[in-house]
Amino acid sequence: MYASTILVSLLCASSVIAAPTWPTFNWDAAKPDGLETVSEYFNMLAQKVEIGKYMSSAPVCDISKAQMAVAPEPLTPPSPGLTLKHVAIGRGTQNYTCDTTNATAVPVAAGAVATLFNASCVASAYPDLLQLLPKLALQFSLTPQEAEKDARMGPTNLIISGKHYFTNNTTPFFNLDTAQYQIGEAGCSKDSQTNAPADAPTGLKGEKAVPWLRLKTHSGSTGNLQEVYRVGTAGGSAPATCQGQPAAFEVQYAAQYWFWEGQSQA
Ligand SMILES: *[C@@H]1O[C@H](CO)[C@@H](O)[C@H](O)[C@H]1NC(C)=O
Ligand SMILES: *[C@@H]1O[C@H](CO)[C@@H](O)[C@H](O)[C@H]1NC(C)=O
Ligand SMILES: *[C@@H]1O[C@H](CO)[C@@H](O)[C@H](O)[C@H]1NC(C)=O
Ligand SMILES: *[C@@H]1O[C@H](CO)[C@@H](O)[C@H](O)[C@H]1NC(C)=O
Repeated sequence: MYASTILVSLLCASSVIAAPTWPTFNWDAAKPDGLETVSEYFNMLAQKVEIGKYMSSAPVCDISKAQMAVAPEPLTPPSPGLTLKHVAIGRGTQNYTCDTTNATAVPVAAGAVATLFNASCVASAYPDLLQLLPKLALQFSLTPQEAEKDARMGPTNLIISGKHYFTNNTTPFFNLDTAQYQIGEAGCSKDSQTNAPADAPTGLKGEKAVPWLRLKTHSGSTGNLQEVYRVGTAGGSAPATCQGQPAAFEVQYAAQYWFWEGQSQA
């Protein structure tokens, strides 16, 4: 098979008729640059296909080649000895609550829910496309039904590799065990964070990108998962104040999640 054929099947919805569930483009919610993001993606993809025609072999999904971005104010790099196990694009919501009885209250984080899409191959072969994926994913809504097993991420062919949610207000949890891949499960604690770069993609209503994070897994995690990074974020931040907000609300976001494995914790 030509390299370009493999690439298109991974990154592009080539057979629309046989397609499973397609997330719908947010025509109403979309920002003016929403369609630009989608066309930027396909232009970049078209260039890759063009390049692919001249490659003698297919791009190889060698995850050890993937490079995680930890700038701008560098997050601490993964602990020595850890190796990259999985890269996913998370697409979902950051939840917040507001004290509606207090005119000067600020929103309080109340967890997040996201569907994780397998981007290991893209991260290793096409780092520039990977950087575009969170912003692209944000342009497509994902209903709870679509977040079930057969969905693809926006116009790509990336398949679901897991789910992200919170088990309590301070415990992000990742379930990366699906029928296809058993990557592991991990509850985590926040180790450190840094603001997203100033030019990070904003949300559908202009919300700032949520910070980049380094998380450490709790003992009892499976798959030897040790550290999880949230980088390359798009949208998700709460408004500065609770003015005009309901008691509980959600802000759409997307991000890259990088999962690192190593020796089990003592
Ligand atoms: C899915 O994830 C696994 C584990 O990271 C990886 O080996 C595989 O290549 C990924 N598949 C794609 C299509 O990215
Ligand atoms: C209202 O919210 C502000 C900002 O969070 C806080 O400083 C203040 O104590 C709150 N007032 C009441 C009555 O809860
Ligand atoms: C949240 O869950 C973690 C891990 O299960 C636990 O250690 C922590 O005490 C819990 N926090 C609260 C406030 O319940
Ligand atoms: C947070 O978001 C999820 C997914 O949309 C939703 O099911 C849940 O009820 C939300 N939680 C709150 C407190 O709003």
